Amino acid sequence: MFTPQTLEGKNILITGGGSGLGLAMASRFAELGANVAICGRNLERLESAAEQIQKQGAKKVAIYAVDVRDYEGVGKMIDYFMQELGFLNGLVNNAAGNFLCASEDLTPNGFKSIVDIVLHGTFNCTQQLGKRWIQNQQKGTILNIVTTYTETGCAFVLPSACAKAGVYALTTTLAYEWGPYGIRCNSIAPGPFPTEGAWSRLMPNKDFQQRYIKHHPMGRVGEHIELANLAVFLMSDLAPYINGECVVIDGGERLQGAEFNQFMHFVDRSTLKQLFQTMRPSKKDS
Ligand code: HXC
Repeated sequence: MFTPQTLEGKNILITGGGSGLGLAMASRFAELGANVAICGRNLERLESAAEQIQKQGAKKVAIYAVDVRDYEGVGKMIDYFMQELGFLNGLVNNAAGNFLCASEDLTPNGFKSIVDIVLHGTFNCTQQLGKRWIQNQQKGTILNIVTTYTETGCAFVLPSACAKAGVYALTTTLAYEWGPYGIRCNSIAPGPFPTEGAWSRLMPNKDFQQRYIKHHPMGRVGEHIELANLAVFLMSDLAPYINGECVVIDGGERLQGAEFNQFMHFVDRSTLKQLFQTMRPSKKDS
C-alpha cells in the first residue's frame, strides 16, 4: 500500500518523537519519504533518536528540546524547524504523561501535570502551528494520539482520561473550524502498545501484564509498526477526505470496557494502592 514516496514533500513534527510510539511513527514517516522534526524534553534522547531515524534513510531530521507545556518555547521550536526543514505541513501530537493513581490520592499538582502535558501541550503545538498555516494560507494535517477511554473514562488514570477527552474535543472542534483552511484534524486511539515510558507507569508487574494480555480478545498487544502505518495513512494524501475522525487500533480491547478498569478485579484496593506507590519514579528518574 505504501511506497518510499508516500510521504514525499511532507515535513512532519512529532512531539515526544524521541522515544516510544513517537519514535516509531517518526521512523516510519522518514522511511516513506517525509522530513521529520522531533521534540521532547531530553536532548540526548532526541540525538540518539535522530541517529536511528537517519538509518531508515531519512532525508532530513531536525531535533529541538522543549517542554510542550511552554507556549512561547513551542513557538520558538516551530520557527526553528521551519528554518531547518522548510514549511512544516504535518503535526502529530504524541507527547503525553500518565501514571496510575487512585483518584482520591492524587495531589492537585499531579492532576495538573498530566493535564498540562496532554491537553495544554496539544493546544500549544496545534495553535502555534495552526495560526502560522492560516496566516500563510498553507494547508496542514494534524493527528492527535488519544486513548480508547476518552468516551468512557478509566479507573486509576483520571487526569489522563480528562485530558485525552479534551484532546478528542479539540480534534473534532478544529476539524470543523479549520476545515475551510484545508487543515485536517484526526485522532488515533491506541490500545496496548507497550513502550518503556508507558508500561513502567501503567503496568504494575509481570503478573498484571499476563492477566491483562489473557483478557485481551486477540491475546496479544499491538506492534508499533501497526500503529505507525495507520498514522502514515492518516497523515498522507491517501486520506484527503478524512477529517474529524478517531480511528481505534486496539485489537478489540475496548469492547470489554476501559483499559485499566479490570485492575480493580485483579487484587484488592489496598494492594493496588501499594503497587501504585512502588511504581512512582524517584525524582532523579523522571
Ligand atoms: C501519584 C505522581 C506520580 C505517581 C508523579 N506524581 N508521579 N502522583 N503517582 N506515580 C505527581 C508528583 O508527586 C507531583 O505532584 C506531580 O505529579 C508532578 O510530578 P513531577 O515529577 O514533578 O512532574 P514532571 O517532572 O513534570 O513529570 C511529569 C510526569 C512524569 C507525568 C509525572 O511521569 C513524566 O514526565 N511522564 C512523561 C512520560 C509518560 O508519562 N509517558 C507515559 C505516557 S503513556 P506534587 O503534588 O507532589 O508536586 C500514555 C498512554 C495513554 O499517556 C493511553 C493508555 C494506554
